Amino acid sequence: MKTAAQIVVLDAGGQYCHLIARKIRDLGVYSEVRASDTPAADLVGAKGLIVSGGPNSVYDPASPTVDPAIFQSQDDGRACVLGICYGQQLMAHLLGGTVELGVKGEYGLATFDLPANGAQTSALFDGISGPQQVWMSHRDLVSAAPPGFSVLGSTATCSIAAIEAPARGLYAVQFHPEVAHTSRGREILSNFLFGICDCRRDWDPRHRVPQIEDEIRQCVGDRNVFFFVSGGVDSTVACALCQRALGPERVQGVYVDTGLMREGETDSMRRMPGLSVESAEDRFLGALAGVRDPEQKRHIIGEEFVRVQERILEARHLLDGRWILGQGTIYPDTIESGGTEKAALIKTHHNRVPGIQRLIDAGRIVEPLRSYYKDEVREIGRELGLPPEILDRHPFPGPGLAIRCLCSDTEAGVQATADGYILPIHSVGVQGDSRSYAPVLCIDDLDQTRATELINRISGVNRVIAQVRTAAPMQDLRVRISAIVPERLARLRHADAIVRRLSHASGFDRRIWQFPVVLIPLGTSAAPDSVVLRPVDSLDGMTAQSVAMPSDLLDAISAELLSVPGISGVFYDLTHKPPATIEWE
Ligand code: XMP
Repeated sequence: MKTAAQIVVLDAGGQYCHLIARKIRDLGVYSEVRASDTPAADLVGAKGLIVSGGPNSVYDPASPTVDPAIFQSQDDGRACVLGICYGQQLMAHLLGGTVELGVKGEYGLATFDLPANGAQTSALFDGISGPQQVWMSHRDLVSAAPPGFSVLGSTATCSIAAIEAPARGLYAVQFHPEVAHTSRGREILSNFLFGICDCRRDWDPRHRVPQIEDEIRQCVGDRNVFFFVSGGVDSTVACALCQRALGPERVQGVYVDTGLMREGETDSMRRMPGLSVESAEDRFLGALAGVRDPEQKRHIIGEEFVRVQERILEARHLLDGRWILGQGTIYPDTIESGGTEKAALIKTHHNRVPGIQRLIDAGRIVEPLRSYYKDEVREIGRELGLPPEILDRHPFPGPGLAIRCLCSDTEAGVQATADGYILPIHSVGVQGDSRSYAPVLCIDDLDQTRATELINRISGVNRVIAQVRTAAPMQDLRVRISAIVPERLARLRHADAIVRRLSHASGFDRRIWQFPVVLIPLGTSAAPDSVVLRPVDSLDGMTAQSVAMPSDLLDAISAELLSVPGISGVFYDLTHKPPATIEWE
């Protein structure tokens, strides 16, 4: 039986809403995401509503909106409302305040000044006062609060950073309390849940394993289940849950070796019980030969997956009536409201095997984890006794090393500017709901603040990276024509293994969310490639912050990387997401 959500997050732009719902659940309160324009009448019963951030402007006619009735008085049992970022702008706009169109925006850390009198009067900031570190990511801002609202605090560039009308149960903040970089964000959300909405604690995923197993048995009946396992946490935990619920003989897991995996990955999958490995390296690498464009790489890999899976389905007779498909779908993959659907387009280009599509259309599918977030899946995996090296594995993209092996179809030198060198390498970024594709700025020190200032100031670049160590002066490095070839993949795999070994030995990998190692075709004629280190902190990959690394670890990593044949430079990505993405592609 499903728990009724005490808190509903209204999705005004999918980059943000899941992070909020995830944080609410982490505080022990069951929360769901719904479309932003869900009618107020359908939200009756929730104790609180949160209008999420989003990339749009309230003046854009296509931008998400909410049913204004959610802001009406609480007397008839309606929920209290918290607007976050775009949610604050939308609340202000719909209730008679003014929203000003921003020109450049504000991205990154900021100081939120919360005067002591604000803290005394606002239940939202109970126990919090004085200057606070917060995370900002916005263009527009509220320039006049709606009638009846008070302003609670400001930042240097945003004079109305929090507002409230407590008698009406309405609160809003311009910054993102759901992001870890807002230091007291968890307390602010907790104040909203328990101090304002009077929620009770009703959620703990660890206690739900027996219920999930029951659901699997009910859904599967007397059929069997097969999985295409990726090696990631979700499909492995989903497969293990089915094995427990049904017995190992009724579950088949198949892992496809694309040749784009990390060192040792396929061998570790071979050791998993109940799993078979299908080798398809030659097919994938053959299809990628000479391909340089990121979209084309993704497309080709997707198509090749389709072909391999079709072969497996046929050879093992998995489409006859005795089998159904198991999938490691998790909650963020299931939401189909406006913003989230668009956000999904930013990175997913799934091609689907027609046979699998028929199974899905016919409901012959079991997805035991579809109500859970990634961290909850890890907790469930721990409850099942799965090994930490699988559960604590950093996320790894489906297209594998192909999207960390950058290619170029032209040759060019670097360009010196007053701010640093522009590298003629295009990497993918995210701007609002669309992808950008632009060159990279390289500076000479690991100064995070300077990098954030530059990315906010300079248009036409996607990222700022720092030069850590190069075998030749920057001006002598060139980008050369390059593609995905076995030699470069082996170089990247080697570099990635070095970084993983050293960062694991130092404990650094446990402090961060993901650590892509990216090969770029920048170097000398003798050593044509360089490596970019991209350690990031994140909760769900939707936003991320570049993380600094201890200098002795960076020294050890860069020294060892420079000794790898073919590598002539080591760089460090200092850019947050947005505006950069985590992967470079
Ligand atoms: P970006 O680069 O969009 O990545 O900031 C966000 C998160 O998604 C992962 N990623 C993928 N995962 N298939 C996947 O399974 C993909 O095609 C894909 N592309 C990106 C990325 O590693 C990061 O964790």
